[in-house]
Amino acid sequence: MTEVPEHLLKRSQDRRSALSGEAPSAEAPAASAASSAESGSAVVPAASTAAAKVAAATPAVAAEPEFVPPYVEAALKRKKIPFWAMPVLAFLPVWVFVYIGGLSPASDGKPTQLAQGQAIFAAQCAGCHGAGGGGGVGRPMTDGNLIKTFPDILGQLQFVWLGSNGMGPAGTPYGDPNREGGQHKTLSYNGNPMPAFNKSLKPAELLAVVRYEREVLSGYKLDPTQIDAKGQLTYGNSSPYLDAEGQLVTPEGKPLFDADGKLTIQPDWTMPVGSKK
Ligand code: HEC
Repeated sequence: MTEVPEHLLKRSQDRRSALSGEAPSAEAPAASAASSAESGSAVVPAASTAAAKVAAATPAVAAEPEFVPPYVEAALKRKKIPFWAMPVLAFLPVWVFVYIGGLSPASDGKPTQLAQGQAIFAAQCAGCHGAGGGGGVGRPMTDGNLIKTFPDILGQLQFVWLGSNGMGPAGTPYGDPNREGGQHKTLSYNGNPMPAFNKSLKPAELLAVVRYEREVLSGYKLDPTQIDAKGQLTYGNSSPYLDAEGQLVTPEGKPLFDADGKLTIQPDWTMPVGSKK
């Protein structure tokens, strides 16, 4: 066991008695007298000096209680926030934001899927892509940039699901080959990979966040026939992107991703980008 040096114990005891206004316990001076005697300290009157100090400090508080306002007294007596709670408190505002974003979709008129996407983006993507999608460690998504890369949402679903390294070795082209300004290649933005999200997102969450990026951050205007009564994205002939089990499916209801997370149908890069804002 580590010995706490006697003089530190003494100091904390003095401090406590000074704060609480209680008389120091009788052992305190005795103990310190014993210890200074033991250690053969040259400062023999240490005990009496310390005791005198405590005696001097104690009445200062005790004698003039009217100078300790109740709120100061309360603050001194109050239990402090335990250190382990600090990280919890630090994340509280983020959590509140995510919570509100996910649960109050109707109040701002946004469909549920988009509101869910907004919460996921704030929690999992904004750190790299910027709160408004303006870019940072990750590529910018604003001003139609995403829609230029992925005119068809299918390509974007696969890219976010597998991440840069899931597309192939560094430099693998992805998205529209005829992209304005040249086709994007993996690890070409600043050398960083886009992480895979096939472990951390469910298919329904993937669809939600990808929709949010396209329709809100990148400004893609959907054809109204692509939205069903609940605000969920459909292929436009009312066949849904998600089946009853929450898996992503093709217009024919077959799995959209194979076992490796690759698309089972090819994106249509000739989709009218003109429908973006
Ligand atoms: C750790 C940082 C990081 C996080 C977190 C992140 N991204 Fe990315 N993202 C990147 C980087 C870096 C690129 C560029 C990839 C490359 O060059 O291979 C990128 C590229 C993209 C692209 C392609 C853009 C284009 O035009 O080529 C999409 C789409 C995308 N991210 C979506 C998302 C979504 C959705 C999330 C959250 C679920 C997310 N990102 C979270 C770093 C991140």
